[in-house]
Amino acid sequence: MHLDLASLKSVRCFAETFLKTESRLDLLINNAGLVADGRTEDGFGIEFGVNHLGHFLLTCLLLERLKEAGGGRVITLSSMAHRWGHIDFEVSSERKTVYSWQFFQAYCNSKLCNVLFTHELAKRLKGTNVTCYSLHPGDPLHLYSLVVFLLTLFQTLTNFRRRKAFVEELRAK
Ligand SMILES: NC(=O)c1ccc[n+]([C@@H]2O[C@H](COP(=O)([O-])OP(=O)(O)OC[C@H]3O[C@@H](n4cnc5c(N)ncnc54)[C@H](OP(=O)(O)O)[C@@H]3O)[C@@H](O)[C@H]2O)c1
Repeated sequence: MHLDLASLKSVRCFAETFLKTESRLDLLINNAGLVADGRTEDGFGIEFGVNHLGHFLLTCLLLERLKEAGGGRVITLSSMAHRWGHIDFEVSSERKTVYSWQFFQAYCNSKLCNVLFTHELAKRLKGTNVTCYSLHPGDPLHLYSLVVFLLTLFQTLTNFRRRKAFVEELRAK
């Protein structure tokens, strides 16, 4: 079955086919995650679209089948990079230009979305037999994690310098 998380139409198509052909779903692992520049078919930032939105829609569409299984589980792969994420609805939803250097911030933001989504889903599923988890895979001291940290530090410093320059420009006016 084909699934392109960068297309909400494809997600709907996949879920429809799955629900028609598979009578049972015990475990849904929302694993796909990328760091890239670009847009989804629907015009969202690619990381927000693939890493969060596609999984979000897929989970919602398959939720009833998970409930029927008795003891269903939803596992969403996040990352320790979620700590540096923030929710920026303007960039994510209003289809503004995302500069290429912002792609890493967009990844952190999407990983924060994964955590918040899991948290909210768990709350809403209280009392049902479905449980939800989000996690950082692997060793937090891995090279990947170090790269995440250094890139974030770089970006934070860059943002700080840009903001400072902006404030100084305003003061001068
Ligand atoms: N690797 C790490 O050290 C690390 C650390 C922290 C968090 N994570 C998280 O763990 C998860 C898995 O990471 P990974 O390193 O295993 O990633 P990966 O090797 O790059 O694999 C990413 C997977 O996502 C799929 N994918 C990408 N775009 C897709 C789309 N539009 N529709 C459907 N599937 C799509 C890819 O499918 P195709 O192969 O078909 O393209 C691939 O199977 C991600 O959520 C990542 O953020 C990983």
